Amino acid sequence: MIVRAVRRPSHIAARGPFRRDAWRSPLRGPWLTSVLGAALLAGLPIVALTGLLSYAAYEPALGRNNLIGDPGPLDFYVFSWPTSPSWLYALTQGLHVTVGIALVPIVLVKLWSAMPRLFDWPPLRSPAHALERASLALLVGSTLFQFATGILNAQLYYPWRFSFLAAHFYGGWVFIAAFVLHAAIKLPTMRRSLRERRLLDELRRGLDATTPETGDSPLIAPAPSAPTISRRGVLGLTGGASLGLLALTAGQSVGGPLREIALLAPHGRDLGDGPNDFQINKTARSVGIRPAQTGDAWRLAVAGGARPLELSREGLLALAQHAYELPIACVEGWSTTQTWSGVRLRDLAALAGVAAFDELLVESLQTAGSFRRATLSPGQAGDRRSLLALRVNGADLSADHGFPARIIVPALPGVHCTKWVRRLEFKVTRA
Ligand code: HEM
Repeated sequence: MIVRAVRRPSHIAARGPFRRDAWRSPLRGPWLTSVLGAALLAGLPIVALTGLLSYAAYEPALGRNNLIGDPGPLDFYVFSWPTSPSWLYALTQGLHVTVGIALVPIVLVKLWSAMPRLFDWPPLRSPAHALERASLALLVGSTLFQFATGILNAQLYYPWRFSFLAAHFYGGWVFIAAFVLHAAIKLPTMRRSLRERRLLDELRRGLDATTPETGDSPLIAPAPSAPTISRRGVLGLTGGASLGLLALTAGQSVGGPLREIALLAPHGRDLGDGPNDFQINKTARSVGIRPAQTGDAWRLAVAGGARPLELSREGLLALAQHAYELPIACVEGWSTTQTWSGVRLRDLAALAGVAAFDELLVESLQTAGSFRRATLSPGQAGDRRSLLALRVNGADLSADHGFPARIIVPALPGVHCTKWVRRLEFKVTRA
């Protein structure tokens, strides 16, 4: 009988990056990793929470608003998205994208600082060690996935075949679970490390005074090379890169002079003429809207009441007009506040003889794409500032901004501010 000796991983010599002495940076250690971890502990929950809020803002329980299918218990927190303050979605989604982009350098340097732990040898020492490594793999994998898909989506670049929304939604929950576990396990080490060295002291130390950390942490190089940059330098570069990204992004939501330097915003800043010169996500041509559809023959159908209506644009302009300064806030993070005027949705409901309704289904002339229809809640459709807008900043809507008529509702995600509206249906869904 031939007995083949099976060597357990612990008896196999570590090679390449699995050798502890392959990692030579004298800067790595629990202190540096903890400082970066503390920054992420402050920033990542903002990104995760505002991401979840974005899901709630779609009002996924209404009509066909939920584009990711039924997520089971994962939408336990969903509540009716309010209309006040009108800038709520501009704030939450602006924070989601802007903070996400600004955290990129910190995430990358944190990964670099903890890299030796990803090459632990032997790879699996015990069931507890296996569990820790699995949670680490989920944390690193989901972070990279969320950042990569989120940034490409915000740049309107979709190189994948899967549904971004579904993948980013479930990826978000994997991230949240792994992040909470990781933070809970590492919090005591982080607090201890941060107490051992004061940040201000470290920021005063130049290259000459930069020495390796001491202790038995596997992050500390056993055979460090000489430092080529101080910890102050690493933190300064990381923080500077982060602030630089913040400055180049924030203007797309904040507006004002900052909008001029929002170079990372995927939308140019010259997008129409005069009063219509502000951001557009989808032009009329890109979604196949033809001038013949929006000309004199266009009619708005209003259904669901005792008196179904067919209204021309002149007919709509003859109704009471109301004007409000409201932001339009896109899921990709940008927002812009303009003065919209048109007919209140609740006036149209009254005119059509709608006594009560649970949902307002809005349909566009658009025949393709996920956002050719959207369902609004009674709170959204009934707000006095919720308009079927016909004009913006005193001029007719341009074709690209939704002529002949579009929806403007305070705090509603931009994708639900349907353009080129052709039909409104007030529905009763509950007995
Ligand atoms: C830890 C990181 C992140 C988590 C947990 C997270 C979570 C989420 C969640 C749960 C949603 C809602 C998805 C839905 O409505 O089904 C969302 C939307 C979104 N996220 Fe993130 N996200 C993360 C990072 C990022 C980053 C870094 C960016 C880009 C800078 C980003 C860009 C977006 C965009 C553009 C949307 C809106 C998509 C749409 O409604 O069309 N995300 N995020």
